[in-house]
Amino acid sequence: MNITFLGHASLHIEIDNTNILVDPFITGNPKAAHINIDDLKVDFILVTHAHQDHILDVEAIAKRTNAVIVSNYEIVTHFGKLDIEGHPMNHGGAWNFDFGKVKYVNAIHTSSFPDGSYGGQPGGFIIETKEKTIYIAGDTALTFDMKLIPLQTTLDLAILPIGDNFTMGIDDAILASDFVECNKILGYHFDTFGYIEIDKEAAKRQFLDKGKELLLLEIGESLTL
Ligand code: NI
Ligand code: MN
Repeated sequence: MNITFLGHASLHIEIDNTNILVDPFITGNPKAAHINIDDLKVDFILVTHAHQDHILDVEAIAKRTNAVIVSNYEIVTHFGKLDIEGHPMNHGGAWNFDFGKVKYVNAIHTSSFPDGSYGGQPGGFIIETKEKTIYIAGDTALTFDMKLIPLQTTLDLAILPIGDNFTMGIDDAILASDFVECNKILGYHFDTFGYIEIDKEAAKRQFLDKGKELLLLEIGESLTL
């Protein structure tokens, strides 16, 4: 599994020959100006919730690539009206795709579309493949529901928001990694705008002090699991 950070909460995940995009917000992120959305290979677009900073580029990319949207019912219905194919899910449900099993899990946050209309309840994803299992938390507060995850699966990587203000900050993300029982963390949802700027080296040290590894990728940089 190859994971590329595309800035903010946007990820590109390659599993064998399947290309999965998560929460594309690229053209609206000046820090990601060197990423061209027309260069991305995409088969599926996973969307955690309806906020602008997670859906901005969904329509353009889906129309170019014919990618299938995987998200909650409300978000899939919204894009369905734009003739974009989707796979609707809801919390606690899982589906076996060819690339692996995807479960839509709880997140504590909000989920309105940019025009204020209802975007369902926000979520995160667990992607379980033959080789590796990852948790993409989405925008969320720390929640005891995270403790349910290791009852059923062993994570190789937890992708957690760390920017604070709109989501968990560092302290809560450290507790979240305890809850999900995964000491390898990829941080996201930081530095994009003023409210969520962090001290990256201090954040890494805080995780290290608890025996955990916080990975922070440059925009466009990849890691392999
Ligand atoms: Ni949000
Ligand atoms: Mn967000």
